[in-house]
Amino acid sequence: MDARFVEIDHGSQLYRDERTLRNAILRVPLGMDLTHEDASWEEDARHFGMVIADDLIGCAIVLGDSDGQMRLKQMAVHERFQGKGVGAALICQIENAIRSAHAIDVVLHARETAVGFYRKLSYRTSGSSFMEIGVPHIKMMKELLPHDLR
Ligand SMILES: CC(C)(COP(=O)(O)OP(=O)(O)OC[C@H]1O[C@@H](n2cnc3c(N)ncnc32)[C@H](O)[C@@H]1OP(=O)(O)O)[C@@H](O)C(=O)NCCC(=O)NCCS
Repeated sequence: MDARFVEIDHGSQLYRDERTLRNAILRVPLGMDLTHEDASWEEDARHFGMVIADDLIGCAIVLGDSDGQMRLKQMAVHERFQGKGVGAALICQIENAIRSAHAIDVVLHARETAVGFYRKLSYRTSGSSFMEIGVPHIKMMKELLPHDLR
């Protein structure tokens, strides 16, 4: 599939498409609405996506801290494109992009239903599961930089 990796500018048309996709995939199935949530933190984050022609088919957000620990949030692939390698390609490209921004680790809160997906990409679970937005999650992480190079 000929999908293109893009970084999305906050406030752009693609950013609005990203919010629509995140709402459709991550909130509406839970009876929730993203537009009711505080979005002020999103301005300080990096937004990434996969695009076919002008259509956004996958997205994720990365929040960084000064110690090189990056938090991956709200990963979503359009229903029609799930299971076709889009999510794996997106994560791989995001890891490359943040590696060059000196990322050391990536952490995320995975829905239990998505743990197998992240495992395939070498993320490992940490601790026990907890509830977030009414859904069981577990913390997962991956080291991007080997210990001897830190
Ligand atoms: C989870 C999600 C991001 C994965 O993206 P995707 O494009 O569907 O996944 P891919 O096709 O790139 O899958 C890569 C591999 O992971 C596997 N995989 C995908 N989703 C999986 C899941 N939920 N559980 C276990 N394995 C999964 C695929 O079978 C594939 O395995 P393979 O390499 O052996 O063929 C996507 O399905 C999605 O948006 N789901 C709904 C929202 C969600 O759960 N988001 C994550 C919140 S933490």
